[in-house]
Amino acid sequence: CGIVGYVGQEPALPILLEGLRRLEYRGYDSAGVAVLVDGQPHVVKAVGRIAQLEERLSGGEASAIRSGTGATVGIGHTRWATHGRPSDTNSHPHTDCTGRFVVIHNGIIENYLQLREVLTAHGHVFRSETDTEVIPHLLEAYYQGDLVEAVRKVASQLHGAYALAVLCRDEPDRIVAVRLASPVVIGLGQGENFLASDIPALLPYTRRVLVLNDGEMAVLTRDRVQILTLQGGPVEREPMEVTWDAARAEKGGYAHFMLKEIHEQPQALRDTLRGRLSPDGRRVTLPEVGLTPEEVRRLRKVALVACGTASHAGLVGRYLIERLAGIPVEWDVASEYRYRDPMLGPDSLFVAISQSGETADTLAALREARAKGAKVLAIVNVVGSSIAREADWALHTWAGPEIAVASTKAYTTQLVAVTLLAVWLGQAAGRLDEDGAARILAALRDLPAQAEQVLAQEAEVQRVASDLARHDDVFFIGRGLDYAVALEGQLKLKEISYIHAEAYPAGELKHGTLALITKGVPVVALSTQPALAPKTLSNIQEVRARGAAVIAVALEGDEQVPRHADTVFTIPRTDPLVAPALAVIPLQLLAYYAAVLRGHDVDRPRNLAKSVTVE
Ligand code: G6P
Repeated sequence: CGIVGYVGQEPALPILLEGLRRLEYRGYDSAGVAVLVDGQPHVVKAVGRIAQLEERLSGGEASAIRSGTGATVGIGHTRWATHGRPSDTNSHPHTDCTGRFVVIHNGIIENYLQLREVLTAHGHVFRSETDTEVIPHLLEAYYQGDLVEAVRKVASQLHGAYALAVLCRDEPDRIVAVRLASPVVIGLGQGENFLASDIPALLPYTRRVLVLNDGEMAVLTRDRVQILTLQGGPVEREPMEVTWDAARAEKGGYAHFMLKEIHEQPQALRDTLRGRLSPDGRRVTLPEVGLTPEEVRRLRKVALVACGTASHAGLVGRYLIERLAGIPVEWDVASEYRYRDPMLGPDSLFVAISQSGETADTLAALREARAKGAKVLAIVNVVGSSIAREADWALHTWAGPEIAVASTKAYTTQLVAVTLLAVWLGQAAGRLDEDGAARILAALRDLPAQAEQVLAQEAEVQRVASDLARHDDVFFIGRGLDYAVALEGQLKLKEISYIHAEAYPAGELKHGTLALITKGVPVVALSTQPALAPKTLSNIQEVRARGAAVIAVALEGDEQVPRHADTVFTIPRTDPLVAPALAVIPLQLLAYYAAVLRGHDVDRPRNLAKSVTVE
């Protein structure tokens, strides 16, 4: 989500809208503003893009805000749903029962259910399904004439990660903001001050900024910005002058969204794991999947169906579910699935995997599965999307908004989701004991930090990419899970660099395609699965003997692969079932840098779309 705020002498609305447009990349399923008109809060919100909010703002109910007279303090929000589907009611800002407090929030309040229960017992009436709405109600409960004090008390009750901005009817000259693990930046003006989630929203107005640190709050009035700790002590901070350009700023300093998203993977993996491993690390908790252990034991089949990158996550899921849960798994790309008259029934679990939750083929396959009586689970990133809504249950990946067309962090979080599902099914089916589960879950727990280690090889990958970018054909080989990752690696490379790339099971190459391996042809070989390593090594030697330039991805400490490869990227040792999420990272970076070197529009490759809503 993105938040903005303004307190000054100009009409607030145009400034808030401009800020929201610049923050839309942080979320885009609904938006809203609150402006104090002569001290009275007026709230307007709408599901959809910011254009929908603007349309609503052009109506009669918003004329007071629009006129701008006496409407010089306000806050705005662009949402990316986490708790509660995108709807007008769930959009921010949220208010309390009395309409005295108005709140916008970015982040997650982990203990909102407990807070909501207590507040409801005290007579508070909730209108939305969001975690945010507990905040204005808590303010209502704590307020005794001092907004800063009330916000501080409320913050001490909240667990999670959040950035908040609050307006109060009784103190209409100020905005109070708090930061805990979600960004808040303050822009300093002359007789006016601004706040936002990110610097680009501020750049049209000021380049003098103050960045709030975790556990700090800020009080913004027209003439002053005061920073305080959550304990109430004052904080002295020198403003800094922003010199970089806005386009780069919205990408957090990265040249492209894709690179930013590649680097967001450790955090996205952490977010997707959060709350899903039992404290002793021996069980998976997935309350969102409504199958009983009895129903799991009766499952005769799991079908994993998706498109593009998500289908590659599905292929990993097939290996894992068969291995850990002992249930036969079918894997299909969604555009083919319906046309082979799949055999599904009440004893089948159909799993649709989708970042956007809107891909037409995946949705059509899901409807077909429902019609045949299968139980339907969606592994989906966008809350409230069609696929999430139409499934019986949705298991969310918490990758956050993915903007680049080429999927990266959505893919690795999908890998985590299918791994959690496989362990969960294995435990429910009685096939996987707690020791076995604990080994995989320990590997999952280490995954975010290990992903950081792999990202540290970026400079080396960039160097290799400069060679690769000169070629027109590249082959990817691997066995087992490495083959699934090879498929994703070749897709990344071709979709953004436009280099022809093909992935083969390493043992299959010699049945035809080996004819294309001549001197200097790059072959990317994955060998992260110890049980298959000797066989993959033979295949590496086969291509090497024909003159291939071998770029390998191998486990740290592997002594064999480096002897037969021209370049080796390594991944830390982990459980083999978890290795794909690490092995793909060098391949993502390789594709990225090859595309940059070839001068392509990395985030928006030709002919492709982020979300394909036609069959
Ligand atoms: C499009 C995107 C791909 C994505 C695929 C499936 O082709 O360009 O990056 O993998 O759709 O999308 P979904 O949103 O269903 O995961």
